[in-house]
Amino acid sequence: MVKIAPSLLSADFAKLGEEAAEIKAAGAEYLHFDVMDGIFVPNISIGIPVLKSLRKATDMFIDVHLMIDRPVRYVEQFCSAGADLVNFHVEADSEEGILEAIRMAKKLGKKTGVTVKPATPAEAILPFLGEVDLVLVMTVEPGFGGQSFMYDQLPKIKRIRELIDSNGANVELEVDGGVDAKTAALVIEAGADVLVAGSAVFGKADRAAAVEDIRNSVKE
Ligand code: DX5
Ligand code: ZN
Repeated sequence: MVKIAPSLLSADFAKLGEEAAEIKAAGAEYLHFDVMDGIFVPNISIGIPVLKSLRKATDMFIDVHLMIDRPVRYVEQFCSAGADLVNFHVEADSEEGILEAIRMAKKLGKKTGVTVKPATPAEAILPFLGEVDLVLVMTVEPGFGGQSFMYDQLPKIKRIRELIDSNGANVELEVDGGVDAKTAALVIEAGADVLVAGSAVFGKADRAAAVEDIRNSVKE
């Protein structure tokens, strides 16, 4: 069964604790927390103090997606603020910088992931595959919720599934961007284990139905 990771980016920031409780009750497995710095992506979202508050409000597994330049500078702070897993974009620093960030998070007892933007080839994950617990494939340009799913990323999702399997690695494959009850079936078929969904969950009044509709998506 695929895991569902609702993205808080589309939640009501005035009541994040209640939103988290609702998606937990809805049966979602991860809580996806999008961090943007206005440099790596052309938008600014939420950061360390918000994560700290949210950590007190929920015991859900928090999957932090760092869309920030040179994340090694802030990895310790996100870890101590309460991340369970920290995702680093491979484009955000040199290979050494990303490896250093991954190792720092692991030393602090956290799970880690590497993330690729749509234009980044599948093979870019290879230097990190032996180190991480998860690979996150973006199916929109990072920066905003509510964008349309990029169907041209499906072959890359399949390729990364093969790379993970042929390396015998115990690594989850997560997909983020434009995933809804319609596109989820294609993402699942391509080999994803974890589906991030922002607007397709928080844009619906009934969050439990929204989570189940994505999980049980069937190809049209
Ligand atoms: C985009 C974020 C996503 C976003 C997904 O930069 O990384 O997590 O919230 O939103 P939807 O599901 O609406 O595309
Ligand atoms: Zn995200």
